[in-house]
Amino acid sequence: MEAIPPAPPRILIVDDDDSVRDVISVLLREEGYNCVVASGAEMALDVAGEEDTPLVISDMKMPGKDGLWLLENLRERLPDTSVIMLTGYGDTESAVDCLRRGAVDYLLKPPKLTDLIRAIERALAKRRIEMARKRYQKKLERKVRDRTAELRNALRDIANTYQNTLLALVAALDAREHETSDHSQRVVSYTSAIANRMGIQGKELEEIGRGALLHDIGKIGVPDAVLLKPGKLTPDEWMEMRKHPEIGFQMIQNIPFLDTPASIVLSHQERWDGAGYPRNLQRHEIHIGARIFAVADTLDAMTSDRPYRKGTSFANAIQEIRRCANTQFDPEVVRAFLDIGEEGLIRIKEEMKLKKGLPQAELEATEAEAELARLTDLDDDSDAPSPAGRPAATEGVEAKDVVKRSATGSEG
Ligand SMILES: [Fe+2]
Repeated sequence: MEAIPPAPPRILIVDDDDSVRDVISVLLREEGYNCVVASGAEMALDVAGEEDTPLVISDMKMPGKDGLWLLENLRERLPDTSVIMLTGYGDTESAVDCLRRGAVDYLLKPPKLTDLIRAIERALAKRRIEMARKRYQKKLERKVRDRTAELRNALRDIANTYQNTLLALVAALDAREHETSDHSQRVVSYTSAIANRMGIQGKELEEIGRGALLHDIGKIGVPDAVLLKPGKLTPDEWMEMRKHPEIGFQMIQNIPFLDTPASIVLSHQERWDGAGYPRNLQRHEIHIGARIFAVADTLDAMTSDRPYRKGTSFANAIQEIRRCANTQFDPEVVRAFLDIGEEGLIRIKEEMKLKKGLPQAELEATEAEAELARLTDLDDDSDAPSPAGRPAATEGVEAKDVVKRSATGSEG
């Protein structure tokens, strides 16, 4: 079967002079072009819009709207249509003006047939290249869009897996201490609520939440005999126990995602008055995330039931935390904590219970969404951990204040 030759390109001839219009169109038809004609600029705009018209050859000077008007309107409405202008002898200035405004060529009137055909072929070839370039660009853009979508999905998967790995690790740690992972997740919720109340948002809020989640990760390095000992710890055993912030820090400090959480892990047992450990940091030397965590952890420790005692009321816990502002806790953090109020704190605990009842897939989707938002945000945010949040070097664990632990605080 023979291939059907492509239809000749449609060329629109525009001239108010019938004779010029007819001569050009007859000659071009004889050369095999598909010609249509218009006697004025406005009519030409309509005819060109009727079907695909790769090329318009237009007279410059016409009564009413002239060739320049047509050129400008074609550029705007049919940008894929090329325009060749026919100008009178000596009108070089307008010819140059036409080119500046987007005409592909100009010819002096009356044009020689060979010049005209050469100009037509040049214009059509140029247009073919331009169209091919546009198609290629569109294809590229589509590809970039597809790849971006794929990348977003991959990031979502990574974020999901990453978050679930951390949750599994924390659940395993909590299980070792015969606790459920609710404790860690409740502490994250309280910590995030206080941080939020203090105006902390976005990436910083996420990182503080993650620090709270991982705070006791170093307990993996504390022997069972110490960690699970039912009775009181001896001074030596306390020394072992008090290594856990340092161990946790060493474990995660080189993971780029966990840079800020690592600072919080290291300082989560410090106290506002400097009586904490491992570095006896005080006041603003302690990472803000760790100062917030200390309040959240104490609240959860006091209000949760333990095998050997029943949890106290939120009202009692709040009163105790208020009492320890300026000694154990940062007073500014305590203020934000008190702002949330008893009802607000109880609501957080209730919401955690509800969240636990949600299907896992739904939870994962919510968490992955948050993680994705954080990852796509990474370029914009440049908040480095505060100088106080990061130790200059590994310090030894001091053994002196083994019994300075608050009566209210947990060893969490
Ligand atoms: Fe701890």
